Amino acid sequence: MKVQIPTEYSLRLVLPGVVGLITTEYRGRYNVTTVSWLMPAGREPPLVAVAINPSTLCYEFIKRSGEFVINIPTRDVINQVMTCGRLSGNDVDKFQRTGLTMEEPKVVRPPWIEQCLAHLECAVVNAYQPGDHVIFVGQVAWAVAEEGSFEEGWLLKEKELKPLHHLGANWFAALEERIEAT
Ligand SMILES: Cc1cc2nc3c(=O)[nH]c(=O)nc-3n(C[C@H](O)[C@H](O)[C@H](O)COP(=O)(O)O)c2cc1C
Repeated sequence: MKVQIPTEYSLRLVLPGVVGLITTEYRGRYNVTTVSWLMPAGREPPLVAVAINPSTLCYEFIKRSGEFVINIPTRDVINQVMTCGRLSGNDVDKFQRTGLTMEEPKVVRPPWIEQCLAHLECAVVNAYQPGDHVIFVGQVAWAVAEEGSFEEGWLLKEKELKPLHHLGANWFAALEERIEAT
């Protein structure tokens, strides 16, 4: 079961540097794209920034629809994460190819990915192109996480309830434990 996360804590879902599967929708077509260039970008309102290559279908769909969902995968779908980062939705239906399935979103059109731990529904409020990627800034409209995975921050208790972190190429990592400072 997934529980709602107050948007004030939702930015901690993308800490520290998690991998995301971005879902997008345009005119009834759906796509899913792997991203690791992802960060919080504002507290009030809650904003996230993601750097997207303009040659991707993800870019095209976000630009046209103004919406995206950040889905946060675990090690259980690591190979699907690579497939969604190697193939383009211009050439193949990545849902069909990977077996990832869609779950009904709350307030935007792009779907959640059922097999993911958490979902942040975002509406684009700004876009910049400082170099060869476009930075989309999205306002988080709704966020949820798998029960037992997140309490004001990732709990990191069980293997299956930890996000993935990208080390480059096809290397990933999971964090060991949450440590509390006084
Ligand atoms: C682990 C991983 C992380 C990636 N991170 C990003 C990213 O942050 N931004 C980006 O534009 N592409 C990133 N990519 C590449 C895209 O996922 C890739 O170009 C994809 O094929 C685009 O698919 P699309 O055309 O269906 O949107 C990443 C790929 C992998 C495997």
